[in-house]
Order: sequence, then C-alpha cells, then structure tokens
Amino acid sequence: MPGFGAFTLLVRELRRDIAATRDRDPAARGVGQGEILATWPGIHALLAYRVAHALHGAGVRVLPRTISMLTRTLTGIEIHPAARIGEGLFIDHGTGVVIGETADIGDDVTLYQGVTLGGTGFATGKRHPTVQDNVTIGSGAKLLGPITIGHGAKIGANSVVITDVPPNSTVVGNPGHPVRVDGRRVEGPDADWIHLPDPIAEAIQALSARIVTLERQLAEASDGPPRPLAEVRPLRTVRGPNPAGG
Ligand SMILES: CC(C)(COP(=O)(O)OP(=O)(O)OC[C@H]1O[C@@H](n2cnc3c(N)ncnc32)[C@H](O)[C@@H]1OP(=O)(O)O)[C@@H](O)C(=O)NCCC(=O)NCCS
Repeated sequence: MPGFGAFTLLVRELRRDIAATRDRDPAARGVGQGEILATWPGIHALLAYRVAHALHGAGVRVLPRTISMLTRTLTGIEIHPAARIGEGLFIDHGTGVVIGETADIGDDVTLYQGVTLGGTGFATGKRHPTVQDNVTIGSGAKLLGPITIGHGAKIGANSVVITDVPPNSTVVGNPGHPVRVDGRRVEGPDADWIHLPDPIAEAIQALSARIVTLERQLAEASDGPPRPLAEVRPLRTVRGPNPAGG
C-alpha cells in the first residue's frame, strides 16, 4: 500500500490543482482554498484520481476502478486510474470529461467540460493522446488515438483531433487543423480550415441568382411598369469578426 511519501505527494499535487483552479477559473477569484476543495467538481475528480492512481501503481485491484466509477457518478468526470496526469491540471465544470487508460497529460493543462481523450477503436497498447504542458482543450473537443498535442497548443471547442498537433498552435474544426502557429495565421492555398465550403448554401445561392435573372428577363419581356426585384439576403458571412468574441 502507498506510504507516507505517497501521502505528501498527494498533498502537494492537491495544492497545485487548487492553485491552478484559482489562477485559471475566473469564478474562483477571491474564493478560499477550503471552498474550492469542498465545491469544485474538477478538484474532487482529481483528488479521487490521484488516490486511485497511487493504489493502481501499488498493484491494488478493484478499489482504484471502484473509486473511479464512484467519482464519475458524483462529478461526471471519468479518469482511468492508470492514466498519467501531471501537476496543475484544471478541469472546468467537468461534466462529460473522459480521460482514457493510456492518456498522458503534462503540467498546467486546462480541460473544459465534455473533453474526450480517447481511443479510436479496439486497439490495445498506447491508444490515447499525449498532452504536453500548458495545453488548453475547449469544451466538447474529442482527441482520439495515440497522438501528441504539442506544448502550449489550444484546441478549439468541439474540435475533433486525430493527428499530432504542433506546439504553440491553435487547432479548430472537424477534422481539426492548425489555424494559428506561434500566433500567426497559417498561410497557403488550402489553409482556410475555418471557412469551409457549404455545398447546400452554395446551391441555394445559385438558385437565388437564377431567380433574379429570370425576374429580370420577365420584367424586360412584359409591357407593364417595372416591378421591384425580390431581395436576396446573404446566407452567411464568409469572413468577419468572431461572433463569440474570440
Ligand atoms: C480556440 C480558442 C482557444 C481560441 O484560440 P486563439 O489561439 O486565441 O484563436 P483565435 O480566437 O484567434 O481564433 C483563431 C480562428 O479560429 C476560429 N475559432 C476559434 N475557436 C473556434 C472553434 N471552437 N471552432 C471553430 N473555429 C474557431 C476563430 O474565429 C478565428 O478565425 P479567423 O482566423 O477567421 O479570425 C477558443 O476559441 C476556444 O475554442 N476556447 C475554448 C473555450 C471553451 O471551451 N469555453 C467553455 C467555457 S464554459
């Protein structure tokens, strides 16, 4: 069974996790450590995981999985006891977070609700992502397979990432693609992964244009006074400010 050394490590990790919550959760500013410990589900899940992980490492059977299962029931966060997690992880809100058995998470990582660090199928061995230090993963993002998310990367909400992510990049979309690397927009003929073509909108636009042409031809062919053409509203903004505020 884990001894005093494991206990002091647990206390240190818990302190770092609480400090990470205070640093990165705007809702935790000015909230005391005791209140965070008592009421933040991400902290409960991490504390339970760290106990379960220590027991798992010591060869204890059944109990680690039982702790994991009970924690999932209480917090909605499922962390496999064998997953490896560094210090200073912050899980915001938490519900729906799944961290698989062979996932490897570095230090000072932030996960929002609904993040999956999962496998792609029934493969065995290393089959979950490796997330390096200082990575932020937005709500609902799915990171699948034994991929590496480079340090300092940001993964946009609801992205589906199935390939390695370069360090200090921003990845969005499904499948996820880098749209910023080292703060600079990714350039190139196929680099616009944000404003992907929408075939249905394009078909409707083509039909609208055809109706306008027909209306003009009809007006020219008729003898009566010219009638105003129907307004065709644009279907979507192709470029422009981020409505979410960035
Ligand atoms: C990706 C994210 C981290 C921003 O990273 P960033 O490096 O600051 O990137 P920017 O805001 O400059 O966005 C880069 C581009 O990606 C687009 N983008 C940002 N997030 C996106 C997303 N989730 N899906 C699709 N496109 C996205 C932006 O509109 C911008 O497009 P542009 O090149 O046309 O300007 C942020 O948008 C995000 O998704 N955060 C997750 C937050 C979250 O989950 N909150 C839950 C709180 S409860």
